[in-house]
Amino acid sequence: SDRPRVLSGIQPTAGSFHLGNYLGAVRQWVALQESHDAFYMVVDLHAITVPQDPKELTANTRLAAAQLLAAGLDPDRCTLFVQSHVPEHAQLAWIMNCLTGFGEASRMTQFKDKSAKQGADRASVGLFTYPILQVADILLYQANEVPVGEDQRQHIELTRDLAERFNGRFGETFTIPKPYILKETAKIYDLQDPSIKMSKSASTPKGLINLLDDPKSTAKKVRSAVTDTDTVIRFDPQEKPGISNLLGIYSTLTGTDVAELERTFEGKGYGALKVDLADVVVDFVTPFRERTQQYLDDPETLDSILAKGAEKARAVAAETLAQAYGRVGF
Ligand code: ADP
Ligand code: NA
Repeated sequence: SDRPRVLSGIQPTAGSFHLGNYLGAVRQWVALQESHDAFYMVVDLHAITVPQDPKELTANTRLAAAQLLAAGLDPDRCTLFVQSHVPEHAQLAWIMNCLTGFGEASRMTQFKDKSAKQGADRASVGLFTYPILQVADILLYQANEVPVGEDQRQHIELTRDLAERFNGRFGETFTIPKPYILKETAKIYDLQDPSIKMSKSASTPKGLINLLDDPKSTAKKVRSAVTDTDTVIRFDPQEKPGISNLLGIYSTLTGTDVAELERTFEGKGYGALKVDLADVVVDFVTPFRERTQQYLDDPETLDSILAKGAEKARAVAAETLAQAYGRVGF
């Protein structure tokens, strides 16, 4: 394929994806299948950097894959797989670990944030080297572009540095990837506290839209979203973060631009916007939930999709690893 290659991963989290994961990441992945040679994975190796119950990990990995398919990833248009099914990730990560300076790894700010949350003594070495596993993930597929949020930019820089270091020391082996920074309008905020992003770990229960929740309670959350005391419906993230968040969600889910929404709702008040948006969200989550359930009810089909994905991924990964091994002297 002469299309640029992209690689991205998502963690197998407990329960469902939330609206932020979908609008901020997964939805873009679906679009990129058409323009790119896309590799997407459920990153279960990354998940065990913090303790996981084995049965739950298995179930959450399947659940994540089911949701990616329900969201529109098409195994005929992209390569969808589970990270641990492709052993080359861990193998290349070891080489990359040995190329990374301890001080260099220590400067990764995400580790500082995550380990601070757990207590530095309890954080695993795996959590510390997480960005280096990410480097291996990307380089194995010779990815040209890596769709990430702004918070991941530093890890892409590390990937570029290590790829250049390897190429310089051992000969041209890896493609130097570029970040494909996801659109800022795709960033979704907590419905009750629009000063924080919607997130599994930080959101308030009523501010978080889990995609697999009962659509009725989801509609209720949308209708009770926090807005300001003004009545004007205008996209202005600084002055009107609550309304802007709702307009952003509306716009992205329906493909209507924000200016048009402002005109549609002119003089109608916040209530009308929230009631309409609740319908829009329900119209999205209802079929999403049904499709996810269909995949979960048919584990044989799901497993066979993932087995084929792993086979496709491995064909690429094994070739890259063989080259890297040879260059290193293995
Ligand atoms: P969480 O923040 O809930 O822990 P993750 O960090 O696992 O979610 O994020 C998975 C993907 O979803 C990443 O690509 C991330 O950039 C994206 N994402 C997470 N939260 C949001 C959000 N509120 N708005 C937009 N994108 C988001
Ligand atoms: Na996060």
